[in-house]
Amino acid sequence: MSPDIQPVRPVDVESIAALAREIWQSAYAGIITQAQIDYMLAQRYNTARLFEELGKSGYWWDQAFVNGARVAFSSGYLTGVPGEIKLDKVYVHPVHQRSGIGGALIDGVIAHGRESGCDTLILAVNKQNAKAIGAYEKRGFVVRESVRVDIGGGFVMDDFIMARSIAQ
Ligand SMILES: CC(C)(COP(=O)(O)OP(=O)(O)OC[C@H]1O[C@@H](n2cnc3c(N)ncnc32)[C@H](O)[C@@H]1OP(=O)(O)O)[C@@H](O)C(=O)NCCC(=O)NCCS
Repeated sequence: MSPDIQPVRPVDVESIAALAREIWQSAYAGIITQAQIDYMLAQRYNTARLFEELGKSGYWWDQAFVNGARVAFSSGYLTGVPGEIKLDKVYVHPVHQRSGIGGALIDGVIAHGRESGCDTLILAVNKQNAKAIGAYEKRGFVVRESVRVDIGGGFVMDDFIMARSIAQ
């Protein structure tokens, strides 16, 4: 069944943060420590930050529903590099993974990018997140560089930057 994709609204913020907590717990256990999961969730999914991004020009948040239940979300933003949009988040509930929902959300970010005149889509993914890297490769992304980013709190993100063309 194809997902129903809708923009995230301010009223959805608490539900998105709760869904993020649930998905992160299964996605990142064994990849980063529980302390880093908690730190990054607090940093990226606090309500003030989500409200700010929902109101910002050049930012998009989408959510996917299956049979009326919210099961996934994505976000993207214009990086400031001409022609470039970043897939910042794509998270699908474990029960609904591998049924095309992540791909549909990525297509949505591609559409936002094209509407804004972008020709390149980038993302950052943890080097140990083989599942996501497999999904991104299937969607045409290739690794562009390897980075280690200090995110404060004594934590680093050890990521690949992946990129693909979205030129029409
Ligand atoms: C990565 C993620 C967003 C992909 O979404 P999804 O809805 O599962 O992906 P799709 O169903 O669109 O999958 C498309 C393709 O990706 C690849 N893929 C997806 N899950 C995979 C897995 N577990 N292992 C290997 N390849 C996988 C497959 O090629 C798949 O096609 P197929 O099922 O026909 O073989 C999803 O697995 C997820 O939310 N993971 C946990 C959170 C996460 O790591 N997010 C990314 C952070 S950078």
